[in-house]
Amino acid sequence: MISLRGKDILDLEFFSPGEIGLVLDYAKEMKNIIHRDIKKLPTLRGKSIVTLFYEPSTRTRSSFELAGKYLSADVINITAGTSSIVKGESLRDTLLTMEAMGVDAIVMRHKAEGSAAYAAKTVSPVIINAGDGAHAHPSQALLDLFTIREVKGRLEGLKVAILGDILHSRVARSDIWGMRQMGIEVHVAGPKTLLPRYLLEEPGIHVHSRVEEAIEEADVINVLRIQLERQKAGLFPSPREYARIFGINQERLKLAKDDVLILHPGPMNRGLEIAPDVAYGDHSSIQEQVQNGVAVRMALLTLTLTGGKPE
Ligand code: NCD
Repeated sequence: MISLRGKDILDLEFFSPGEIGLVLDYAKEMKNIIHRDIKKLPTLRGKSIVTLFYEPSTRTRSSFELAGKYLSADVINITAGTSSIVKGESLRDTLLTMEAMGVDAIVMRHKAEGSAAYAAKTVSPVIINAGDGAHAHPSQALLDLFTIREVKGRLEGLKVAILGDILHSRVARSDIWGMRQMGIEVHVAGPKTLLPRYLLEEPGIHVHSRVEEAIEEADVINVLRIQLERQKAGLFPSPREYARIFGINQERLKLAKDDVLILHPGPMNRGLEIAPDVAYGDHSSIQEQVQNGVAVRMALLTLTLTGGKPE
């Protein structure tokens, strides 16, 4: 029997298709709770969860918090600006402090790649990586897979185009791992300066410098945010030029399948990587992704902290 009990969620690289399927199936049940009048299950009563965020976040942090609360866990939030982190406390000491207080899970976002793996080695609570630098963001990739499966009814054999700033994107890296595991054909495109070299050698990944090639006959287009805060100067043309050459607009959408699904992890730069009428148009499931994010995080917390229901 597949179980995620006690497992740290660091990246999808370490997930089998069976484990991904387990999370997606569980999340489907959890999604029903979000639509209820009384959003409360007793599943995590007596468990405590900390969200520890060293970088800004709206969706990821609040959806983990709500997920924990809908499951009756006690949830507290620590953000870098309002904790002893500003007094220079090290990550190690902050983690040890949380462990000493008896927390069961730490949901963590940090600018350093490998920080979540370090936390998993250092302390005993379950560690869920909510983003470590440009490395990984597994819960985002799981909610992307969930959304695709919900809309398309399957994952295997689909063509997905991931567009934009692949180099700085932990979402792209985790998506690529998870999608390949599930038999999706992955195409990536963006300015050459934002396409990491290692991808060229990866089997099963198709790298394009023209957006048009990547989205031709695509079932899904995942548009990434241009990460202005991670940009070293000069890696891409002016924002206007970027929008013209790489931005997704109605005209370009015509190249994809008629029923193409548009995703974006948020936050969006509307008018830059994605035109407003595409972001809010008929093909877009961007709002649905946010809701699915709560369901997927409920599934992750339940499966890691309790193992879920016996099968
Ligand atoms: C992403 C992140 O922070 O990794 N946002 C998110 O979690 N929804 C993507 C981004 O910042 O562009």
